[in-house]
Amino acid sequence: MPHITLRQIRIFDSVSHYQSHTRAAEKLHMTQPAVSMQMKQLEENMGVDLFERRGRSIVLSAVGEELREYSTDIIQSYNNMLAFAERVKGHETGHLTISVATTANHFSTRILSAFSKKYPEVTISLDVTNRQRILQQLDNYEPDLVIMGEPPKGHGLISEQFMPNPLVIIAPPDHPFAKKKGMNIKDLDNQKFVVREKGSGTRETVERIFKDAGIGCTQAMEMSSNEAIKHSVAAGFGLGVVSLHTLELELNNGHLVILDIKGFPLERHWHVVTRQGKAVSPVALSFKNFLLKEAHQYTHHEGMV
Ligand code: PGA
Repeated sequence: MPHITLRQIRIFDSVSHYQSHTRAAEKLHMTQPAVSMQMKQLEENMGVDLFERRGRSIVLSAVGEELREYSTDIIQSYNNMLAFAERVKGHETGHLTISVATTANHFSTRILSAFSKKYPEVTISLDVTNRQRILQQLDNYEPDLVIMGEPPKGHGLISEQFMPNPLVIIAPPDHPFAKKKGMNIKDLDNQKFVVREKGSGTRETVERIFKDAGIGCTQAMEMSSNEAIKHSVAAGFGLGVVSLHTLELELNNGHLVILDIKGFPLERHWHVVTRQGKAVSPVALSFKNFLLKEAHQYTHHEGMV
């Protein structure tokens, strides 16, 4: 079996590209005689003429042309192998496709920004959408990973809980309930609520709690954004149920208050979820580990619940 080295293949590729021993030597930081010698040995070892010498210049022979396709593939695979090893060692490059629940976006962008500062070569596609759409995306193997509320059991999902997602009931500061202490959920019977759209995890949870408590509520308005809900509640349209993670300014500036109701904040959790059978790329794995370790730093109000 002929002895051919990777180095010879790289030199062959370079000489083929430049059609010149001298230029290839410059590019490879070698001397021109060393390049000529390597190419001569390669021809001898393979038993074929790779080049045709035409005066001072060289061109690929017909066989050389065909072999060049293989050498290009070999070099490409070799580079891919090295790049992969680099990523595994922690110098991540690559693309991360991530979807987050509308509510999780309030902290996810901060985490992504910190991750991206640590790994500036990573590019990111972020989709912010509700729970229902996220489950469809997972079903279609679309995102590398998602951040969502409690995922359904089964469905071929792999999930890890990583941070509390406390749900609170909010009201404008002049609401009759605003200053009441130790209220019961039954006190909310027939109150007007501004609610999230169908398909939202928050909405699903609120409906379940109210049903379990045997109380009804009047839907004052339905909207797909937590920001819009907070504005509407502050404007007096009704009460609202949102994750504590969506409330920053409004509590500080006194535009909203959290009602004191037994059983609240309702303790839910954020989960990082992947689809069984979808290969987890090194960058997705790296982000997942970052999230599990660091997420709590990027929410406010940790001390409040
Ligand atoms: P969402 O949040 O209401 O924005 O879909 C997800 C969840 O809390 O389950």
